[in-house]
Amino acid sequence: MTDHTPPRFNPEHASQLQCIGCGRLHKKAEQNFRCQDCGDLLEIVYPNWDGSGARPDAAALKAVWLQRRTSGLRLDQSGVWRFREMLPIVGDGQQVITLREGNTPVYEMPGCASIAGLQQLYAKHQGMNPTGSFKDTGMTVAASVARREGFRWVACASTGNTSASMAAYGARGGMRSLVLIPEGKVSWGKLSQALDYGAVTCQLKTDFDGCMRVLNEVVQRMPVYLLNSVNPYRLEGQKTAAIELMEQFDWQPPDHVIVPGGNLGNSSALGKAFIEMKKLGFISALPKISIIQAAGANPLVQTMRENGGKQLISVKAETAASAIRIGSPASWKKAVRVLQVTGGTVEQVSEVEIALAKAEIGADGIGCEPASAVTLAGVKKLVRQGFVKSGESVVLILTGHLLKDPEFTLKFHRGDLFSRSEGEKEAVILAAQQRAPIVLDATVDAVIRTLNEADDRLET
Ligand code: F0G
Repeated sequence: MTDHTPPRFNPEHASQLQCIGCGRLHKKAEQNFRCQDCGDLLEIVYPNWDGSGARPDAAALKAVWLQRRTSGLRLDQSGVWRFREMLPIVGDGQQVITLREGNTPVYEMPGCASIAGLQQLYAKHQGMNPTGSFKDTGMTVAASVARREGFRWVACASTGNTSASMAAYGARGGMRSLVLIPEGKVSWGKLSQALDYGAVTCQLKTDFDGCMRVLNEVVQRMPVYLLNSVNPYRLEGQKTAAIELMEQFDWQPPDHVIVPGGNLGNSSALGKAFIEMKKLGFISALPKISIIQAAGANPLVQTMRENGGKQLISVKAETAASAIRIGSPASWKKAVRVLQVTGGTVEQVSEVEIALAKAEIGADGIGCEPASAVTLAGVKKLVRQGFVKSGESVVLILTGHLLKDPEFTLKFHRGDLFSRSEGEKEAVILAAQQRAPIVLDATVDAVIRTLNEADDRLET
């Protein structure tokens, strides 16, 4: 099963690092992945794709990618590296750390569609990745770069999923992981993953934004490789979810793609992928990419509404959707560009709307973690506002697995999530989706009575 066929190096594949602010090209990134001149973020560009010469051939690649789905080679079995012509090359392929990430399903969501008032609603479930979140698609690329560059240590600040993913890929690649997480604000599922994969896990007495600030200093002083989404190699890997989605849709783009917004790396990555696919002729139109945030962690919503995306408005973030509890998102400029180029919008949703949407996604037999559910909550609003039309096709990007945050789910179903803070109206809305466990005597009669009662209730 060892792959002895390194990816061939094609000239159209050559990538460069470019500053998104001043446009300067960088041979090598600084430890903090910021431009030395203006301090802005870097992105990967492929100069040859702009010329008419050595561009990737869309029709030929669609066929090659399809063939690789039946290949036994480790790079082909990865749903990220299967699309390697759209990625920066990483050595001879032997350096690549892969857990066979990507390859995630697209589900029809009939129950959620009728609740939202849509005819065609789909979910691309990135929670079906090896560590249970979309982070793995980016981590395979960036962790492989870390290994190629000879780093012993990789590091990230995280609301939980990045740390779980980084710790797994670090371990597989023989590197050590340093994790900084906000104390008490990371779900146990995610924390337990980082510990089991062997990371040195530090719970800092601050929030995610505080962890990020500390880590930015640490990477300037110590030889550790930063694996947050400011690392542009992460975003290149995360692009492949959009490419895979288009393959699953036979290269016909949906009208809308709805993404949760936290540090804003994922929306930036997906947008970059669609823009590149359009430029190279893989697709003929761009979907509108819209970004949904929790109302308590809404810096992008405020930024777009107050100044049209010119100047970041940071907030003190608070939401039970802990994955997106972020007040000062690093990739905000990249996300603004995606909104502007694709014609998407931003929206915010309340804690009650998030909880309800999460249960509705669960009731379609799919499930996700709270941060992912902002997508359904958001699309319901966008349909009501007329931004999304009932006949249009919509894809929700579900970013994390249901089992990432069982505490939230149990509290919701037991009615403990909002017990004190919410009014009667919300309690009635939520009650329809709540299914608390039922404690019974261990008798046949008790079970049959419960079955009959439930049957009557569900018929009405
Ligand atoms: N959904 C989930 C499940 C996440 O874990 C995150 C981010 C997001 C959405 C938002 O994505 O940051 O690219 O806009 N989690 C990061 C972490 C911050 O540390 O795990 P984003």
